[in-house]
Amino acid sequence: MRTDTGQIVYLADYRPTDFVLERVDLTFELDPQNTKVEARLIFHRREGTDTRAPLVLDGDELNLGGLLLDQNGVPAAQFTATPESLTIRDLPESKPFEITVTTFINPEANTQLMGLYRAGGLYCTQCEAEGFRRITYFPDRPDVLAVYTVNIIADKAANPLLLSNGNFLGGAGYGEGKHFAAWFDPHPKPSYLFALVAGDLGVVEDSFTTMSGRDVALKIYVEHGKEPRAAYAMDALKRSMKWDEEVFGREYDLDIFMVVAVSDFNMGAMENKGLNVFNDKYVLADPETATDADYANIEAIIAHEYFHNWTGNRITCRDWFQLCLKEGLTVYRDHEFSADQRSRAVKRIAEVRHLKSEQFPEDAGPLAHPVRPNKYREINNFYTTTVYEKGSEVTRMIATILGRDLFKKGMDLYFERHDGEAATVEDFVKCFADASGRDLSQFSLWYEQAGTPLVTVSGAYDAAKSSFTLSLEQAIPATPGQATKEPMHIPLRYALILEDGSEAKPVSISGAEVTGDVLHLTERAQTVTFTGISSRPVVSLNRGFSAPVNLHFEQPMADIANIARYETDLFARWQALTDLALPNLTRAARAAQNGETATCDPAFIDALLATARDESLEPAFRAQALAVPSENDIARELGGNNDPDAIFAGRLGVLGEIARTGIDTFRSLSGAAKANGAFSPDAASAGRRALSNAALGFLAHAEDSPARAAEAFAAADNMTDLSAALTILSHRFPEAAETTAALAAFEQRFASNALVIDKWFAIQATAPGKDALDRVRKLMESAHFNAKNPNRVRALVGTFAFANATGFNRADGEGYAFLADQILDIDKRNPQLAARILTAMRSWRSLEPVRAEHARRALVQIERATGLSTDTRDIVERTLK
Ligand code: ARG
Ligand code: ZN
Repeated sequence: MRTDTGQIVYLADYRPTDFVLERVDLTFELDPQNTKVEARLIFHRREGTDTRAPLVLDGDELNLGGLLLDQNGVPAAQFTATPESLTIRDLPESKPFEITVTTFINPEANTQLMGLYRAGGLYCTQCEAEGFRRITYFPDRPDVLAVYTVNIIADKAANPLLLSNGNFLGGAGYGEGKHFAAWFDPHPKPSYLFALVAGDLGVVEDSFTTMSGRDVALKIYVEHGKEPRAAYAMDALKRSMKWDEEVFGREYDLDIFMVVAVSDFNMGAMENKGLNVFNDKYVLADPETATDADYANIEAIIAHEYFHNWTGNRITCRDWFQLCLKEGLTVYRDHEFSADQRSRAVKRIAEVRHLKSEQFPEDAGPLAHPVRPNKYREINNFYTTTVYEKGSEVTRMIATILGRDLFKKGMDLYFERHDGEAATVEDFVKCFADASGRDLSQFSLWYEQAGTPLVTVSGAYDAAKSSFTLSLEQAIPATPGQATKEPMHIPLRYALILEDGSEAKPVSISGAEVTGDVLHLTERAQTVTFTGISSRPVVSLNRGFSAPVNLHFEQPMADIANIARYETDLFARWQALTDLALPNLTRAARAAQNGETATCDPAFIDALLATARDESLEPAFRAQALAVPSENDIARELGGNNDPDAIFAGRLGVLGEIARTGIDTFRSLSGAAKANGAFSPDAASAGRRALSNAALGFLAHAEDSPARAAEAFAAADNMTDLSAALTILSHRFPEAAETTAALAAFEQRFASNALVIDKWFAIQATAPGKDALDRVRKLMESAHFNAKNPNRVRALVGTFAFANATGFNRADGEGYAFLADQILDIDKRNPQLAARILTAMRSWRSLEPVRAEHARRALVQIERATGLSTDTRDIVERTLK
């Protein structure tokens, strides 16, 4: 494990390698504890570089077992090997040469799950970002692209399956119960896309005929017996392949595409060329064990990794600063895919909810960084919601600014111009500038400036002149290392809605560029005048969340209520409901903090219930409307001195009021989904379940009894309904006998299914209140818990820290102290996992002083520990700064 304090890497220091890698031949002799890796690497010196420059290869915890230069031994004086690097001097000036490096590695001891490791009897790899250097000495950076041949030798009985990237070349016996397989990947790739999997797995097979008529074999490998649970993933894969052809014109490029599901995995999934490796959580699903959210995630992540084949693999990143070039773009692509497969408006609402609850806090806290960072100490800590989700929003804004056709032209140009290359954000943006003739230099600030812009807006109608003016101002808050900011190009979709509900068609617009329904805010302050407006318009601004900004618009409540009821843009309706809810929620939280209670504005509750009842709206939308802003949303709105108990109590009061007012509505909505017969995971059915379960949640408030949820639990015939009922029971009625019985029944029924037990952990870890910590501690002793498995740790410890505001932020600070202990323990095995969970502390400064001080002490305890990984040290130091 790397425990150095970590050198800082700067974007400005980028330079190409001195040597060009031409070919890679790898031979693995697999052994659980002593795998032999032989890497034959053919290099030549890059033209124009210093002829004396040595070849420096990266390593991480490696031992050099042998070194040859053009098949000959290398004198000791000619090279230097450390666990972190291998330096070879006096290499040929111009002709190509071959280096053969032998290393011996121990997959079983690899608990960080980077490089080659063992996962449930399998051999498996994870190389992004810098895991390949844990396998062999190598120029382990994304701008080194080469063609790979891979030979795998292993015990045949234990490992009937030997997989790597590309196309299968052949295999045969290898004596002594062993066999071997050879793979060849014709597409030059960086080392982070290398993959190897060996073991004994079941397979689901299918095929796909590409748009040019080539047949591609599709294989999804899962544990024996779990094959039926891979059917949905296979279906999602085929839909993804088709969609990428139709929408982006992208065809698959190998004879085979494989997905392997593994149970020990640090992240969601990985796009290795032709051999995606997945956290099994994002592959396996059936009605009995997967929720609708699981199905939607599987669809999105299967698509995401598949789409990487073009955005990431065919065109990769020059360096890790460009991570958003593949991730932001690929998230944008998977968002569009899901929007086309499901309800676009509902999908957009879910995206924005996620962005606001995860990315906005990151951008407002000590870990804020630009979509393209310009320095890092540990790249693994930059697989963030800013790089992914805000990166996707930035791509979406390009599409908004250019319009559909020019955006497509720009994408086509990008694929044509940079196929086979390691590109930069500048390369990407230039394609859109060239395709459209638009200057995107100001727009590029979205990649460079961190922080969520605040747009302050006011409107004034002049009846005498039939004109309307909109005054807009933008401000971007200071973020670490960026005290002052330049104004950005903010594309705001808008509509001016007249009294009769129609959209105003202004005679003229001055003060800003407007293209179609997009208003381009480009200066610090702008006043936009619309003429020919026959009545005072209601302004619907940032429709579809066209720009990831915070909007402060002192709009009459009646206008917001009108938007909530009548806007044609469904996203705007949802946004308006949120805007109506938030002042009620913050008022209730403040009141609770002072030991008082507040009552809600009836207009808000009316609007909400009207939406819930509106049969002309799709159920999934109505369910989104009923999911009132979360405790985190309220905390963000309050902005500081936050008391999570008061926020919770205030929110609970609001929920209770809604529930009591709408009790009849909720009675008729709950259970309504049942009428639709056999389970289907499609979006419409999922929406019906979501609405019915939201209603069930309100009924628990209104009736203050566990009876109905207990009944729903007993009657559930799918995991969505079952887990929704169990959540209501354990969050609302933790002491009830019904709850104890349901938790026990659930545990017993799913004892052998780790992914479902993770839900059991997560539901209990998020039950609010100060008892949560003791519950979590007890659950850690349960036989189901396994501190070595990232999914278990995330489900219990991670969920507690990220999603249990009252339990984690206990006033006595015990939640933070617990997390500190856990982080130090996890860090010894798996630094990436520890660092990720530690980011749950990122908003500690916005807590009230007593909690903030407890939090700070816990962070200092971590900071002072010896032997901390670079990953965790980086996060803890930035969080405390
Ligand atoms: N590239 C993977 C994806 O599809 C994620 C890899 C994450 N790697 C890491 N070191 N955190 O998004
Ligand atoms: Zn990705």
